[in-house]
Amino acid sequence: MGRKGTDFELKGLKIVATGKALPKHSLTNEDMSKLVDTNDEWIVTRTGIHSRFQCREESCLSLAVGAARNAMESGGIRPEQIGLVLVASQTADYAFPSTACMIQKELGLGEEVMAFDISAACTGFLFSLGTARGLLEALKKPYALLIGSEQLSRIIDYTDRGTCILFGDGAGAVIVEAAEKEFYQKSWSRGDIGALSCPGLGKEGQHIQMNGSEVFRFAVTAMQQGISEVLAEKGLTMDDIAHVVCHQANARIIGHVQKKFPGQEEKFFINIDHYGNTSAASIPLALDDLNKAGRLKPGQKIICVGFGAGLTWSCALLEL
Ligand code: ACO
Repeated sequence: MGRKGTDFELKGLKIVATGKALPKHSLTNEDMSKLVDTNDEWIVTRTGIHSRFQCREESCLSLAVGAARNAMESGGIRPEQIGLVLVASQTADYAFPSTACMIQKELGLGEEVMAFDISAACTGFLFSLGTARGLLEALKKPYALLIGSEQLSRIIDYTDRGTCILFGDGAGAVIVEAAEKEFYQKSWSRGDIGALSCPGLGKEGQHIQMNGSEVFRFAVTAMQQGISEVLAEKGLTMDDIAHVVCHQANARIIGHVQKKFPGQEEKFFINIDHYGNTSAASIPLALDDLNKAGRLKPGQKIICVGFGAGLTWSCALLEL
C-alpha cells in the first residue's frame, strides 16, 4: 500500500545516533620508523597521518560491540527497538558465523533480528547504508544498527613500508531509521583484484597488497565523480551541503578532491591524522566525531563518499 507499482519511492534515512570504539594502544609515526625504513616527515607529507590505533587486547568483534553500545547509549536506543544489524568489515574474528550474528547475542537483541556482514572493503559501510534503506521498511522495528569495524593490524605486513604506515584499527556505529528525509545514493562495482586485494582463508600471504599510485588516482576520480553526479542528479550544488565525509584513506587524496570544489574546502571533514585508514570504519568514525563535536544539525544535508577494493565506490546524500 502506498507504493506506486515498480517505481515506488522508498523513504529516506535519518541518523538517530552514532558511536565509536578504539583500541587502547596507538602507534605513532616514530613507532613505525622502528619497524620499517620510514620517518614522520615522509608519512605526514604523503598521507597526513600522525598516529593510528592497533589492537592488542581488543578484536574486530569487541570493537564492533563497543561502538554499537556507545551509539545505543548516546541515542537512548533499547535493544528491542533494533530490527537489523549490518557489519561492514574485512577482518572479522571468524569467517563464520558473521560478526553481526555475534553482536546480536552480545547486545541481547531478539532472535527475530536480521543480522549479517557486508564485504565491500572500505566502501562496505556505505553499501550497508543503502542495504538498510531497502530493508528498513519491511522490518517491524524502527532502527537499523550499522557498524564498520576493522582489525586491519591482522592483515598488515609490518615489513612493507608502502602499506603498513597507512592503516589503523577501530570501529564506528550509526543507528538509522526510515524517515521522510532526502536520501540519494549511487554505487559502483568494477571487478578488479590487481589494484587492491588480500588473499582469502588458507591462502599464502594473507596481507594487504596494493598498487598505491593506481589506487590514489582511482580514488580521486571516483570520489569526485560520485559527489558531482549525486549533486547534479538531485539539482543541488555544494552550497547546499554542510559537510562532506570522505573515506579517510589519505589526506592528500581528500586534498585533490577538495580542489575540484573551489571555495568549499572547509566542508570536507578530515580526521585521518590520528586514526590512519580504518577501511570500513572510517566513515562511521568520522560521522561520530562530527556528531559528538555538535556539528551535525537537523535539516543539514551531508554527503558521504567512499571507495575501496573491488574496486567499489559509492556516494550518499543524507538529510539530517
Ligand atoms: N616511508 C618512506 N618512503 C616510502 C614509504 C614510507 N613509508 N613508502 C614508500 N616509500 C618510497 C617508495 O619506496 C618510493 O621510493 P623510490 O622512489 O626510491 O622507489 C617513494 O617513496 C615513492 O613511492 P610512491 O608509492 O610513489 O609514493 P606515493 O606518493 O604514491 O605515496 C601512498 C604512497 C601513500 C601509499 C599513496 O600512493 C597512497 O596513499 N595511495 C592510496 C592508498 C589507498 O588509499 N589505499 C586504499 C586502501 S583502502 C582498502 O580498501 C583496504
